[in-house]
Amino acid sequence: MRSWLHDCLARRPWWMNALMAFCFYMATLYMPWDFFLKPIDRDAEAWFGFLLRGWGAKATEPLHWAIYAAGAYGFWRMRGWMWPWAALYAAQVALGMVVWGIVYKGGAVGWLSGLAGAVVPAMVAVGIWNTRARFGVKRATMRQRYGEWALVTGASAGIGAEFARALAREGMSCVLTARRDDRLRLLADELEKQYGVATRVVAADLEQSAGVEHLVEALRDIDLAVFINNAGFGYSGRFDKQDPKRLRAMIEVNCVAPVVLAGHLLPRLRQRGCGAMIISGSIAGRQPLPYHALYSATKVFDLHVGEALWAEMRGTGVDILVLEPGPTESEFRDVAGEIREVGEPAANVVQLSLDALGRQPSVISGWFNWARATFARLVPRTVLILMAEKFVLQQTPEEMR
Ligand SMILES: NC(=O)c1ccc[n+]([C@@H]2O[C@H](COP(=O)([O-])OP(=O)(O)OC[C@H]3O[C@@H](n4cnc5c(N)ncnc54)[C@H](OP(=O)(O)O)[C@@H]3O)[C@@H](O)[C@H]2O)c1
Repeated sequence: MRSWLHDCLARRPWWMNALMAFCFYMATLYMPWDFFLKPIDRDAEAWFGFLLRGWGAKATEPLHWAIYAAGAYGFWRMRGWMWPWAALYAAQVALGMVVWGIVYKGGAVGWLSGLAGAVVPAMVAVGIWNTRARFGVKRATMRQRYGEWALVTGASAGIGAEFARALAREGMSCVLTARRDDRLRLLADELEKQYGVATRVVAADLEQSAGVEHLVEALRDIDLAVFINNAGFGYSGRFDKQDPKRLRAMIEVNCVAPVVLAGHLLPRLRQRGCGAMIISGSIAGRQPLPYHALYSATKVFDLHVGEALWAEMRGTGVDILVLEPGPTESEFRDVAGEIREVGEPAANVVQLSLDALGRQPSVISGWFNWARATFARLVPRTVLILMAEKFVLQQTPEEMR
């Protein structure tokens, strides 16, 4: 915990950490109180040095709230978009202090108190400008960070195929595995021609323990650096209408195979002193999902295992990340037997996880999915489950309800 906090705080100077803590306090405590609880007749907001009172103040509070929330997030992640507007905003506060002194106090006292009040925000504006190079720092390529070879399970479609493309683009040679080896060969050909990397195709059925063993054997002579533990599928419908054999297969592919493979491969990564594993979880694992009951259970399993391993592997040179996508463009919905809905491009989800790797235990793609997951933590369990049921039913075909 201490070393994690140390790593997080080391990304910015002390005064910026203080600014981030201030933004966090304002976004989570002060502004909610200000907006929801402060009586209108006591409400006041300052914009560009001019005071708004009563309803004028109340109406503009959400904007202040959004600014502090964006500030807390932007400083935390050191996003590239953060520094220009944060510097500008601090400069505006400095100017506002001078205006406030002149308008509301007047005379030499007003000028002097305004200028005195402007010193700190002006220093913050200059400080952010001077440290702008620390924001949006581009990371090294996956090959530079970890080594040459990556294993991608579930590489014949969707998110897995995009993982293989992204890793090859960053110079990594790929072992591609799934059951449909014709698809894998096509992808291997594409990666070799387009990115000049080496590939190896291993057809394996991860539902069978023989398939998992076959894959482990096929990796013996490779110095594996990155393991994308991604293969998985869903199965939509009311539990008593579902085929128990398929439910069992889901546990094998989504839970047993990832753990057994990690059991074989993580010791090798740890021995190298450098490596990474990404597990494809899902925001489906953030709450129980009626009519997708077992799938959401397999994904909370993946989330807990992955996040726990992140802590165990800290300091060994092995980075672990659980990727939690929301609805994503792939073959997932057809395989699960769900009604189709628009999803995020798989390439976006993959890029997000490669950027987050080594920084945090898990990452949720998209702010809307993040809001859904946060909401799931806050509402009472019964309400959450019943809301989830309503939502999933819309995607469940009539005959499986
Ligand atoms: N798409 C989404 O909306 C979404 C959202 C959240 C999480 N996820 C997770 O993301 C991961 C990838 O899903 P996707 O969206 O890319 O779905 P997809 O397009 O259906 O791809 C699934 C991959 O898993 C492989 N696979 C399935 N059963 C297998 C088995 N028995 N043995 C070996 N490989 C098997 C498939 O290959 P073969 O059929 O060729 O074997 C395929 O390559 C899954 O873990 C899924 O739970 C997806």
